Amino acid sequence: LHVAVLMGGWSSERPVSLMSGEGVAKALESRGHRVTRIDMDRDVAARLAEAAPDVVFNALHGSPGEDGTVQGLMDLMGLTYTHSGLATSVIAIDKELTKQALVPHGIPMPGGRIVETAELYERDPLARPYVLKPVNEGSSVGVAIVTEGGNMGSPISRAAKGPWQEFDRLLAEPFIRGKELTTAVIGDKALMVTELKPKSGFYDFDAKYTDGMTEHVCPAEIPDDITEACKDIALRAHKLLGCKGTSRSDFRWDDERGVEGLFLLEVNTQPGMTPLSLVPEQARHCGMSYEDLVEAIIAEALR
Ligand code: DAL
Ligand code: MG
Repeated sequence: LHVAVLMGGWSSERPVSLMSGEGVAKALESRGHRVTRIDMDRDVAARLAEAAPDVVFNALHGSPGEDGTVQGLMDLMGLTYTHSGLATSVIAIDKELTKQALVPHGIPMPGGRIVETAELYERDPLARPYVLKPVNEGSSVGVAIVTEGGNMGSPISRAAKGPWQEFDRLLAEPFIRGKELTTAVIGDKALMVTELKPKSGFYDFDAKYTDGMTEHVCPAEIPDDITEACKDIALRAHKLLGCKGTSRSDFRWDDERGVEGLFLLEVNTQPGMTPLSLVPEQARHCGMSYEDLVEAIIAEALR
């Protein structure tokens, strides 16, 4: 096959996407496929047209590669591409739209609400502790946990310092104590649950991509009913949103509350494919190599 691997771009997750894309490209080459690497810029349409691949492997993270924009372009161009399509991507990139799509179907997600950045200069939007996050970023970019006590200062000083002024829509959610869990879906199967144990702080950008900063317990050492609930929710969310190829559902579980304490945070339609990424790791535990995973995602796109 001739595969164009679309990577890079200009989102805050550009470096992550370059790692994902290079991993995918090398895997495809090792399997004898012809690969054209495309570091996405404003000429992406011309470059895709020139490459005229059999299939595009979308290794982009964040906007506009994960939010439906690039998917719409490829639809118009008649290109076959991996991962989710336009409508799914528009909803899944937006954590608030995702709630509106999934909560009515009984998927447990945290409460909370959208806040304007300006509001943070006046008051806390929720009782502390709470989490503030941009609605449409990945890799924990711009996420902060606002705790009791003086260490964080007021949200206003955080907002003034942080990168948040760049984000017009922030989501405030109650902080859920306990564990960080994640489940990959490949095709129509939820694989397993991984617990992420950052060595310090929370599972932020550095903890995600610096080797040794987070312990991955895979499979997670949690009760069977929680494992089954994560897999059930991840698969239902994948289907309800109409995801394709692969997705990864991220959870918080308050382990003092049993299954009532399990909440889906979001569904990632373009999960990371870097050496430290979670979907390849779960696939490996299920006997599927990185190369097999890449080929399985392509096979679903071509179906
Ligand atoms: N947003 C990153 C790439 C992930 O979900 O893995
Ligand atoms: Mg995400």
